[in-house]
Amino acid sequence: MTSSFNKENRIQGEEIETQDYVSEFYENKRYNKPYSLHYHNWLAQKMFSLLDLGSPILDNGCGNGFLAQFLKKHEAVGLDISPKMVELARKRYSEVILGDSQNIPFEDSYFQIVINRGLLHHLPDPRQGVFEIRRVLKNRGQAIFIEPISSFLSVIPRMIARQGKHFSKSHKNFKEKELKKIINSQLKIEEIHYFGYLAYVLLGFPDIFDIYKFLPGKSILTPALIEFDELIAKVPLLNHQAWGIMILARKQND
Ligand SMILES: C[S@@+](CC[C@H](N)C(=O)[O-])C[C@H]1O[C@@H](n2cnc3c(N)ncnc32)[C@H](O)[C@@H]1O
Repeated sequence: MTSSFNKENRIQGEEIETQDYVSEFYENKRYNKPYSLHYHNWLAQKMFSLLDLGSPILDNGCGNGFLAQFLKKHEAVGLDISPKMVELARKRYSEVILGDSQNIPFEDSYFQIVINRGLLHHLPDPRQGVFEIRRVLKNRGQAIFIEPISSFLSVIPRMIARQGKHFSKSHKNFKEKELKKIINSQLKIEEIHYFGYLAYVLLGFPDIFDIYKFLPGKSILTPALIEFDELIAKVPLLNHQAWGIMILARKQND
């Protein structure tokens, strides 16, 4: 009991250290370079188009608060475990709480929407994370998950990237089936969308991999790559070979 508690604490400690380190890269590269910003704005808009936005909203694992710009008309709160991410997110959200998504510091049935963008694969216990999301959601409230998944395209590059300082030991690479099972155990999955083929890798993560900075003609190439990704996402079976998945789910009492 004590040893598993210590192990979990150590893993969380490493994750906080990693995210504190990564926060500067989010701020100055991922959400700052024009082409990665273009990509993440497109992805965020795709995500918001699936939600019936209503308040209050929890941005669970909010990072540096990138999503706050889309939620200005709503009552939105950020939550993150990294003090440095929280410090940055406070520049964008009026309320940001330092805390653990596996023990969300809010009462039951408080939120209309819980946004989980890139969070679950960071949690030592993703099932507990989803349990907490369900607990704080109102009945019929929506949760959205954006997660990387293991696919033919992603498995080797991700294994290489994980050797670097941007990933802690709690970082997972879910299989699609496993992720759906975890979410389905608490919430009703309503929609699934695949995303991330060429544009995702080339544009989305200059903090990890930035070969795109050397390419010419970005004003044409950037939207063209995004269109290419949108096209592949519509091709049955091929679309499953994605880097990421977007899952819309709802709380339904009973
Ligand atoms: C991949 S980042 C995504 C950040 C943000 N959602 C975005 O899309 O830019 C994952 C975030 O989850 C946070 N995180 C990791 N473990 C957490 C936990 N147990 N509780 C709350 N936040 C956590 C990290 O600090 C980090 O900011």
